[in-house]
Amino acid sequence: LPVEPFDIIVFGGSGDLALRKLMPALYHRWQDQQIPATSKIIGSARTKMSSEEYRQLVRDKFEEFYPDDKLEEDTWNAFAEHIHYVGVDALDQKSSDWDDLKELLAGSDEKLRIYYLALPPGIYGQVSANVDANGLKTDHTRIVLEKPIGSDLDSAREVNDSVGEVFEEDKIFRIDHYLGKETVQNLLILRFANSLLEPVWNSRHIDHVQITVAETVPAGERASYYDKAGALRDMVQNHLLQLLCLVAMEPPIDLEADSVRAEKIKVLKSLRKIDSGTVRADTVRGQYKEGSVKGKPQKGYAEEVGNPTDTETFTALKVHIDNWRWSETPFYIRTGKCMSGRWSEIVIQFKSVDHLMLAPESGRVQPSRLIIRLQPDEGVKLMLMTKDPGPGGMRLRYVPLNLSYAETFAPRYPDAYERLLMAVVRNNLGLFMHRDEVEAAWRWVDSILDAWSRDDMPVHLYTAGTDGPVQASVLLDRDGREWFDGA
Ligand code: BG6
Repeated sequence: LPVEPFDIIVFGGSGDLALRKLMPALYHRWQDQQIPATSKIIGSARTKMSSEEYRQLVRDKFEEFYPDDKLEEDTWNAFAEHIHYVGVDALDQKSSDWDDLKELLAGSDEKLRIYYLALPPGIYGQVSANVDANGLKTDHTRIVLEKPIGSDLDSAREVNDSVGEVFEEDKIFRIDHYLGKETVQNLLILRFANSLLEPVWNSRHIDHVQITVAETVPAGERASYYDKAGALRDMVQNHLLQLLCLVAMEPPIDLEADSVRAEKIKVLKSLRKIDSGTVRADTVRGQYKEGSVKGKPQKGYAEEVGNPTDTETFTALKVHIDNWRWSETPFYIRTGKCMSGRWSEIVIQFKSVDHLMLAPESGRVQPSRLIIRLQPDEGVKLMLMTKDPGPGGMRLRYVPLNLSYAETFAPRYPDAYERLLMAVVRNNLGLFMHRDEVEAAWRWVDSILDAWSRDDMPVHLYTAGTDGPVQASVLLDRDGREWFDGA
């Protein structure tokens, strides 16, 4: 669908996020004729370069990052005409460089204007204030903030307060790119447009839920950020908790931003606090040591960082949601770097049948499982027991009813950043986090961080290329359960 004309200014325009994700996303939206011809795409950073040089940089990086995604020459040339660059030190309010930006934006005060802050969160407030002080904030201005919003509750509040002094909450779009993923959005449809699921979506029928976000990439290359963060802050506070909220929340009254956000906040507030009393039983921390990932040798994390460190590159948690729907159903969540494969998956495990009349030699009866695969090969599977066809008697087989996105739908659909950038233009705040969500998530995560440090919580080493330390399996084993890796 066409959108209104807009100008987008990307601060941090020469950084990794802008060149790897944002500019390619805008190119693809241009290719699909979604970007109106009067729109301007403005990269901005401290470095001085011409718009021509910047266009070349954007192109070079596109070709480097997406070698299989051939640029169409004519489309690229038409797109590139809309790209501009201004060298501004966004932290320097008095710099005369702001005039270059003013000049580019002159006469477009009535047009939608979007500032995308691909910058460290500690300076979001200052940059917002500088934009305002230079008269560059109009009545039609929105601002996009990348995660992480802070590194704990206090710093998140500071970021939210300082940006909030300049922009109203309904002009602030806090990105969690998981909310832009196709299958994550599909969760809402799956849950609320299928009458089959809602009656069984509760503790009476669901034994437990597993959420896994496994990555093969190492963390050490981003050590200056990652070593201060760790897996809990980097992945759980945002992506995994957002997934948990979408699985666990009550049906919102509609899909308006306020309605969906209100339900998610209720879930976050129902998370049972993990403290010194429960931290050892309910959480696991891991760090990869030397090994090999998908056949490639991999250094240990501490070796990559260059000094001993107890930052976790893996974490697994048992989470209780203390509300009417879920009080008897634990959610087990885990995420890690340098694991055996890259996959993100939600497994809804239903309770076992109450009574079994089959002879033991028929084979093992497994519980029904609904598996929502977010990446890499998106799809939904319902694992069911069937009779193995043929004359062998009542032999059991566990098989999937399988919806594969690749087989069923168009070969290419917009990636998360494409969808989220367009959602900013369309003013669809429902795909972004309200400050109350971010803060509620930090409040819960902070108590874990606090218990970890007070209890000197050990970090168990796991070999790179495996699925975390054995303690992560023990977490479920203790409850008579296991991670489901077998669909
Ligand atoms: C980011 C984290 O938010 O998400 C990274 O900071 C992580 O550490 C990335 O690698 C994972 O995103 P995706 O889309 O590749 O699953």
